[in-house]
Amino acid sequence: MLIRGQTLSFAANPFRTPRDACALHHRRGAIRIDDARITAVAPADSLPPTPGEPVVEMGDALLLAGFIDAHAHYSQTRIIASWGRRLIDWLETYTFPEEMRLADPAYAAAVARDYLDLTLANGITTACVYATSHPHSVDAILGAAQPRGLRMAAGKVMMDRNAPEPLLDTAQRGYDETRGLIARWHGVDRLAVAITPRFAPTSSPDQLEAAGALWAAHPDCPMQTHLSEQPEEIAWVAALFPDATDYFGVYERFGLAGPGAIMGHAIHLTARERAALAETGSGIAHCPTSNSFIGSGLFDAGLAETVPVGLATDVGGGSSFSMLRTMAAAYEIGQLRGRPLHPAQLLWLATQGAADVLRWGDRIGNLEAGREADILALDLASTPVIAQRATRAEDLWEQIFPTIMLGDDRAIAGVWVGGKRLDAAGG
Ligand code: GUN
Ligand code: ZN
Repeated sequence: MLIRGQTLSFAANPFRTPRDACALHHRRGAIRIDDARITAVAPADSLPPTPGEPVVEMGDALLLAGFIDAHAHYSQTRIIASWGRRLIDWLETYTFPEEMRLADPAYAAAVARDYLDLTLANGITTACVYATSHPHSVDAILGAAQPRGLRMAAGKVMMDRNAPEPLLDTAQRGYDETRGLIARWHGVDRLAVAITPRFAPTSSPDQLEAAGALWAAHPDCPMQTHLSEQPEEIAWVAALFPDATDYFGVYERFGLAGPGAIMGHAIHLTARERAALAETGSGIAHCPTSNSFIGSGLFDAGLAETVPVGLATDVGGGSSFSMLRTMAAAYEIGQLRGRPLHPAQLLWLATQGAADVLRWGDRIGNLEAGREADILALDLASTPVIAQRATRAEDLWEQIFPTIMLGDDRAIAGVWVGGKRLDAAGG
């Protein structure tokens, strides 16, 4: 099959390479898909259809890799946009009560379905999600992702203190239940199980040690947690772990740092923590709508020069399922820190950057021969205000930027997962 449109691929990381050298654009391009993989990306003229080969014509739409959400809580879908709290009381007021509702497997399954409908409508073809502490909540999301052919990672939240009793496991149970999920799902089709200690305040040292041991036994699993989101949380960690050098040091001590570690937020870091993140090869999920919605602070995207960084919605602390809206929030936070992110950098964070954080950077995240065929078509004139601005554009980036700043799910013109069309037009 061929898909035709404007194609955009990355040749290099725009945080580490001059922008002109990092993107490959074909104004009239074509992508060939064979057997769920991309086999060629080239100017349409040089890639004519073979006899009988189907051609999907997307006109002026921009074809790029599907968006990848490096950190989200599918279990919080129903409490997105909950008013007026900061992290710790937001968790107690809205989040833990909602996560308790997922004790009902039928409810978990319904939320999982809605979550995947919303993410696909927004062009997200891979996400790394937190479920709840109930193992069946992981079955719900991976069981819904599997028939859709999605590449997805999900984790059972490990939490043995400082949360409501019905949500607590123990160090041993969190270990055993996660191990059971790994045996059931990890590496099945395109699915993965993420080892998921929620964050240092809700795990005892014993549980963090068990999580570290589990990761050592299953090193190709992603490991996700939260790091330095709000000052009150950081002070709490310092009180709970008085011997630790700093917040990231807690994770390092228990073997929870390194490639495949995905640290959500990572806003208020010391110089030592920034250096240690880079030295250990740990990754960061930048959650800009959440960081402003919960009042957490302004992430320094300059970290992407030394640390793998991916973009993330952090639904439902994050306030949008749209990766376009999330890129716009990242741009605005960059401005508030005196660093306007270039459209190439924003798109990188939402695709290859997030894939790298998940260690799937050689499979997804870019339009390139050999990659799995997770593809997105963006309408760059999806609303009147975007269309009139894009008309004035003098180059590709100026053509794309209005959609980043003003676009939403109406800009998603097509979504292919493993080469199969999954948006409404795909029937
Ligand atoms: N820190 C610990 N748990 C959470 C969560 O569910 N959302 C956010 N934003 N931060 C957290
Ligand atoms: Zn989170």
